[in-house]
Amino acid sequence: EGVEQTELETVAFTVENGIAWVSLNRPDKRNCMSPRLNRQMMRVLDELEYRDDVGVLVLTGEGTAWTAGMDLKEYFRETEAQGLKGTRSAQRESYGWWRRLRWYQKPTIAMVNGWCFGGGYGPLFACDLAFAAEEAQFGLSEINWGILPGGGAAKVAVELTSFRNAMYHSLMGENIDGRKAAEWGFVNEAIPLARLKERVTEVANVLLTKNPVALKATKDAIRRVREMTYDNAEDYLVRAQEAANSFDNEGRKEGIKQFIDDKTYKPGLGAYDK
Ligand code: ACO
Repeated sequence: EGVEQTELETVAFTVENGIAWVSLNRPDKRNCMSPRLNRQMMRVLDELEYRDDVGVLVLTGEGTAWTAGMDLKEYFRETEAQGLKGTRSAQRESYGWWRRLRWYQKPTIAMVNGWCFGGGYGPLFACDLAFAAEEAQFGLSEINWGILPGGGAAKVAVELTSFRNAMYHSLMGENIDGRKAAEWGFVNEAIPLARLKERVTEVANVLLTKNPVALKATKDAIRRVREMTYDNAEDYLVRAQEAANSFDNEGRKEGIKQFIDDKTYKPGLGAYDK
């Protein structure tokens, strides 16, 4: 495809029994996110999203890290050297795949096997569920090298945990382990690393038994209502359910057919014949 081999290798995936296991795959660099990795992850997410053999996506990391955050050399230093254009384009690529993941068609699970720093909080929040190894370490280390927790990381902290926890975590630059991350609400559960994959497989298998239209409607509803008043949420949920009920909207297809094939009406001038 003309994609450099090095780019392809930054993300690995396998699909097995309905589960897509996607790994950040730069173990030698603790899976820190370079522009190459960000571009490749978007391609992989694209490829898997609508596959019939994929019901759940799990995001994990090869080696000892989930992700050591942004690549300080390739994502920051080298793109900054290209000026604002370089910085903005690197941001678009990383924020782009995190956003894609937040609204992914299939339910997603973060399987946090090890280090999770800074920019890693973007994909952490993007995944619908999260399970961490007790041994994993989470940190907003930005303060330790002199920036604020950007790329959404500050927002993720206040969304997931209390104001005081978020403030302490960002100002102190101290790491917390998987257990604490579960206590703080960063992840659903912490499990010993040796049993992490087994537990995530169990959860994924439950999701695979559910109605896929309902799963997508539900995950979106949970994310959307966070930002709504009660009345707006109530209204959104009624409409979202009704939209899900008519997911396979035949009328719309009939409207296109009568215009394009039958030429019996023009949508600009009137309505199709029901
Ligand atoms: N950016 C660039 N390179 C990195 C990063 C990173 N974020 N993290 C690790 N690496 C590289 C190291 O430079 C080293 O490269 P080398 O082998 O060419 O020397 C290699 O990955 C292995 O890293 P070590 O530090 O040797 O691994 P160790 O297991 O001892 O430590 C740890 C792991 C704690 C994760 C450490 O690598 C680290 O502190 N990384 C930075 C974490 C961080 O603060 N990330 C930025 C968050 S802020 C943000 O994302 C916006």
